Amino acid sequence: MLCSLVPSATDVFVAGLIPQSFINDLIDRADIVDVIDGRVPLKKTGKNYSGLCPFHDEKSPSFSVSPNKQFFHCFGCQESGTALTFLMKYERVEFVEAVEMLAKDLGLTVPREKSNRNYVEVDQSIYQALEGAERFYRQQLRGAEVAVAYLKGRALTGVTARDFGIGYAPEGWHSVSEALDADGISSETLLQAGLTIKNDSGRIYDRFRHRIVFPIRDVRGRVIGFGGRKLGDEEGPKYLNSPETAVFAKGQELYGLYEARKALRSIDRLLVVEGYMDVVALAQGGFRNAVATLGTATGEAHYRKLYRYTDEVICCFDGDKAGRSAAWRALESALPVLDEHRSLKFVFLPDGEDPDSLVRDQGAEAFDQFLRNATPGIEYLLKKLGEGLDLQSLDGRARFMGLANPYVEKIPDGILKDLVKSRVREIGGMAMPGATAPKTQSSRRAAPGVEGVAGSTLAQRMLSILLKVPALWRALDANVQQAMLAQRQDLGLLGELAAFLNDHPEADVNEILMVVGEGSEQAQLIELAKKPLALNEDAWRQELIDGCASLLRQREKTRRLQRSAELRERGEEEKIRDYLPQFTSGEDP
Ligand code: UTP
Ligand code: MN
Repeated sequence: MLCSLVPSATDVFVAGLIPQSFINDLIDRADIVDVIDGRVPLKKTGKNYSGLCPFHDEKSPSFSVSPNKQFFHCFGCQESGTALTFLMKYERVEFVEAVEMLAKDLGLTVPREKSNRNYVEVDQSIYQALEGAERFYRQQLRGAEVAVAYLKGRALTGVTARDFGIGYAPEGWHSVSEALDADGISSETLLQAGLTIKNDSGRIYDRFRHRIVFPIRDVRGRVIGFGGRKLGDEEGPKYLNSPETAVFAKGQELYGLYEARKALRSIDRLLVVEGYMDVVALAQGGFRNAVATLGTATGEAHYRKLYRYTDEVICCFDGDKAGRSAAWRALESALPVLDEHRSLKFVFLPDGEDPDSLVRDQGAEAFDQFLRNATPGIEYLLKKLGEGLDLQSLDGRARFMGLANPYVEKIPDGILKDLVKSRVREIGGMAMPGATAPKTQSSRRAAPGVEGVAGSTLAQRMLSILLKVPALWRALDANVQQAMLAQRQDLGLLGELAAFLNDHPEADVNEILMVVGEGSEQAQLIELAKKPLALNEDAWRQELIDGCASLLRQREKTRRLQRSAELRERGEEEKIRDYLPQFTSGEDP
């Protein structure tokens, strides 16, 4: 049975203080595909999206989501409903909590009884006005020779103009207002939609005059604003954008995202560029995956949105100083959103070029080359932090770690953060590969991996076993574990792995390979992990228990011998007796 599209009276009763109008508006603003896709992977299949139903066990997808109806339905188990019902079922939360989750995703605050007035209910006529304006501007483009000539001069084809709904706002002060007035749209609505401006003396006139207009759409395809470019060197700013309105929040929206989703079945990566023309020219050049922010910096909310549709974001910047500082700000905003599945890369274009000029003058292949050579954001971060520091000196390294730390802390807890942390440690602490490390560090480096550890083959064998079944770490006696952790430095890679497993008992081999070991050590670990091991898990368990005990005994013996040698050197031979090896009996060599 299908649920009703609107929350039932009981739902609203539970919600208590949340106004019905807000709930309606929430459902209206949210895109069910967004809401579900972040939780259940969806594929576009014709008009709808489909995936494996999260509410029953199935092998072939019978779960279908309709962007037009803003509704989901499973043909297998008959579950169905709106974005809110989905959240309630999927996240197992009550109605109020689902409302809050959805509102948070959209950057809205749920109004409560006391703060009711802070919330402006969206008047549907605003959307109607914007849609009407878009139609009007498109029609106007047909007869406007200057405007058509301008677009031709910028090498835009009619097809591209149509795909993006590009139009022309004619000269006059009341063109759009008169056209929409005839459609029955009130002048108050036009103001609220940002299509007109009221000056100090109360006179109202069209915001966009004699400009090429680019309609800005939300992910559902509704027009929410416009960007207008002047045609020549008339007075006024080159671009004029709609103001923030009840339906247009610049910090949330991305120009071209709707068009990209419409053109592409699945979005492998999204390109973030600076301007409208860049998005449009790239699309024409075959890159249908470009989006632009709207005269604002790309903020955290933008990245959250971008990563709902793709796993890889490539930001294109100018190669100049402004571009580099934009890259830095991009990093700061994106770090809280990144994880090991989400990649952020940067492309720096030659000075004076933007994606529009580059594809036009040098062709798609040239632009593609830039994309292929994109710099990973994290790499850029670490490189920039290290710039101007002497990483050979202790001071420089300490400073590097100090600078890096706040950035690392912005990354959410998880594999990526661990990975970046260990990179920072590698650069700032341990040693630079190929560089002469300070003396204090060299002892650990001089004995890289397991080679330098006493009983190296034994240590290596223990490593292999722990790599095969990391959970076996827990099979060790607590005091053996403690002893190994205490001797971590001396145990080299095995010590490092022990420490990691102690903190992350659930880690699997891939996580280990990502975090433990650096450079050649890592290669060594990968080799070990690939090596097949004979026997079975039970046998390994015993071997690990025995082997670690044996290793510790060897370490103890070496320590005592060293200590007695030191005492002998200092002429304190009478004390040696206390340090003679105790573990001489038995099986150890
Ligand atoms: P640019 O000045 O880099 O322009 O502005 P552009 O995209 O290369 O434009 P063309 O190629 O000269 O047409 C980049 C973006 O910054 C915003 C717009 O969103 C623009 O697309 N902008 C720029 C404004 O909002 N106002 C301006 O006056 C200029
Ligand atoms: Mn440009």
